[in-house]
Amino acid sequence: MKTPIVSFLKSYQEKSPVRMHMPGHKGAGILGFEGMDLTEIYGADELFAAEGIIKESEQNASSLFGCPTYYSTQGSTLCIQTMCTILCQDAKSKGKKPKILAGRNAHRSFIHAAALLDFDIEWLYGNSDYLSCKINEEDLEKAIIESLPTAVYLTNPDYLGNLWDIQSLASVCKKHNVLLAVDNAHGAYLRFLEPSLHPVDLGADLSCDSAHKTLPVLTGGAYLHLSDSLNQVWKNDVKHFMEYFSSTSPSYLIMASLDAANEVLDTTFKKSLSECIQRVDGLKNTLVQYGYTILSGEPMKITISTKEFGYTGNEIANLLMECDIYAEFYDSDYIVLMPSPYNTKDDLKRLETCLCGIERKPILANKPPKLEQSKKAMNVRQALFSPSITLDVSKSLGQVCSSVTVSCPPAILPVIPGEVISESSIEVMKYYGIETVRVVKE
Ligand SMILES: Cc1ncc(COP(=O)(O)O)c(C=O)c1O
Repeated sequence: MKTPIVSFLKSYQEKSPVRMHMPGHKGAGILGFEGMDLTEIYGADELFAAEGIIKESEQNASSLFGCPTYYSTQGSTLCIQTMCTILCQDAKSKGKKPKILAGRNAHRSFIHAAALLDFDIEWLYGNSDYLSCKINEEDLEKAIIESLPTAVYLTNPDYLGNLWDIQSLASVCKKHNVLLAVDNAHGAYLRFLEPSLHPVDLGADLSCDSAHKTLPVLTGGAYLHLSDSLNQVWKNDVKHFMEYFSSTSPSYLIMASLDAANEVLDTTFKKSLSECIQRVDGLKNTLVQYGYTILSGEPMKITISTKEFGYTGNEIANLLMECDIYAEFYDSDYIVLMPSPYNTKDDLKRLETCLCGIERKPILANKPPKLEQSKKAMNVRQALFSPSITLDVSKSLGQVCSSVTVSCPPAILPVIPGEVISESSIEVMKYYGIETVRVVKE
């Protein structure tokens, strides 16, 4: 497969050109890779009006993913904003006010998109805790019938690596004629499993992947996918919508990295992925035999429910850091490790040696508080754009949440802007170490 963006950047650099254009580093600098960091000069195409090398590269990505695929250099965040714009425009084109039925564990970029685009959200709580939102077909169908949404928005996989039955959930959406958008930020690689578990292959109408999370792509590189079944109107408008939220200076380093990844995905990736999954499975088995509790779900996440082994996730993460091993995510209950085919066998061996060198202790019994449904006082946009003050969480009972600073990862809000802060939300915030909250000024 050709890599037209990489080829252009390389040949430009080799010419030793006089760079009378941005960026100001002129291709030289202490980082060493400035030479390939260009802007939209003659021949370099334009991300949001792609007609040349970017168009060709996006077509290559589309053929790899089997559906129209567009690049983002601003992560899944930009794709989520764009998906929500399409969902809103689609509702309006049918004479309806946009109302999105969303899994309660949505990433904060979805909440920000709701504020920017001013759509209503109905939350699906599912049968689960703060980080997950386990939804089955019956629950979804019931919620669609009760709240008559114009679209459904799900996060799959979630941060713990749970995968829900997107195929069945997508059929429910199709039956009720509502679009399904899936935040697949953690699952770009799912397309390369046999069979594919990518949401678009399972029936989603729109989906986004943070290529940078699971594929060999620089941070910031992501894909927006539109299924063949989505109205052609939105395919024509998609770049236009992306522009609403984007910098006019997309990073060519990130685009080149997405371009270079096409070559890898076309040739070696499937094999390396399947070999890596075997190694990771082997490691998971060893850890289970040693006494760890590993959640089932995504093949490429190792999620340990640590309290059964006598530790908090934070404690295990600290012990791993003493061995110079750094986890993706940890909290009181879990530690999430994210290997990829580009971890060496030695990396996995070091992880095994370190984890299997930790002595098992008595089970820790305390559990996370259940996230109860909160009362809504105003919508997300009103709350986020109202004058607000910061309060200690312990003094926030009865106030209307304006925003919550949560760390990323996991960037999931225990209280949504516009909701009244209850005893239960205070308990959840305290459990997750959130000390202050912004509330709407009375
Ligand atoms: C579930 C989920 N969705 C969306 C995002 C945003 O992705 P990005 O950082 O690529 O913008 C993240 C980031 O961690 C995420 O975990």
